[in-house]
Amino acid sequence: MNGVHKTIAVLPGDGIGPEVTRAATRILSDCAAAFGHSFELIEYPFGGNAIDRLGEPLPAATLAGCRTADAILLGAVGGPKWDSLPLSKRPESGLLGLRGGLELYINLRPIRVRESLAGISPLRPERVRGCNFEIVRELAGDIYFGAHERRRDNGIESARDVASYSETEIERLVRYGFERATARRRRVASVDKANILATSVLWRETVTRIAKDYPNITVEHLYVDNAAMQIVLNPTQFDVIVTANLFGDILSDEAAALAGSIGLIPSMSRSRTSKGALYEPIHGSAPSLAGKDVASPLGAILCAAMMLRESFGLAAEADWIDAAVDHVLEQGYRTNEIAEPGSQIVGCTKMTECIRAEMADSAQHAERYGWGV
Ligand code: IPM
Ligand code: MN
Repeated sequence: MNGVHKTIAVLPGDGIGPEVTRAATRILSDCAAAFGHSFELIEYPFGGNAIDRLGEPLPAATLAGCRTADAILLGAVGGPKWDSLPLSKRPESGLLGLRGGLELYINLRPIRVRESLAGISPLRPERVRGCNFEIVRELAGDIYFGAHERRRDNGIESARDVASYSETEIERLVRYGFERATARRRRVASVDKANILATSVLWRETVTRIAKDYPNITVEHLYVDNAAMQIVLNPTQFDVIVTANLFGDILSDEAAALAGSIGLIPSMSRSRTSKGALYEPIHGSAPSLAGKDVASPLGAILCAAMMLRESFGLAAEADWIDAAVDHVLEQGYRTNEIAEPGSQIVGCTKMTECIRAEMADSAQHAERYGWGV
């Protein structure tokens, strides 16, 4: 067995973040034990809990730890307790600080409808069956990182948010999207609002220029309003969607719903050069579910699988986790939000234990699967 050694910064965050992160770290430890790897997990305060303990959402030691780690696992941040703080002091600003500070400008969100869950999609099963695309969202620019200003003139409040993109920022993201598509079904859908926004006009021109370097890729341009409609009308048409930060935020929640629940979708944020990519489920901190052991751990567990595959090149380990998730869902185990009539409703801990048991069981038959356990 040729094990690898990796350091993983773990940022559990707030709300359901710690529960789902714990689920993912258990799975990573099982993987390490089964395949002879060593994963050093180092936990850091981040988000609301860091505000409470240290006065800021992204303490310098957390950022420094993330910089040197081989990968970062993040739960979720935010909650009502911190919602009255000014925008720049909230947990979410820590998230932007991390994304901006580590220049994590690529955010990959895979949308895959599992056969076992086609029946719970809000769309008819025949419409979502086989749906498998990736949203490549720009993550370190756009209106998220421009000035956010409030003013009062003659007793009237006004506010303004600035969206901007440079050609360089667009190009580095879009090239990544084309590379993903090259290894997939070779279709790129670029989403913008080029009938209104200057940033989108530049986006479209840049995509058109870069497309010339990828003659085997079919490219189409969609306005974001049409893209939102196409995602529900005909989601199987998509392979790779490349889009700006705000559009990608909105479209990925919509697309996640097709796959059954936002609780099931992992994400990877990275730059082309940064050492460690960051993995976080796309769901939020869900304060109303926190501490009740009812949240789905699947988004976080699939983040662990994505980390193994994308950052560490451990595809067999990732497949092992993914197959276990499939089997457990097929057996009818479901967290609340993806339950169907007849399913066996379980909480976060129990779902995690089911997946670990399935992994242990399939490891016994590893040779059958061609895994190097
Ligand atoms: C996401 C979240 C964040 C975003 C929030 C929490 C700042 O919605 O990761 O999609 O808007 O990017
Ligand atoms: Mn979002």
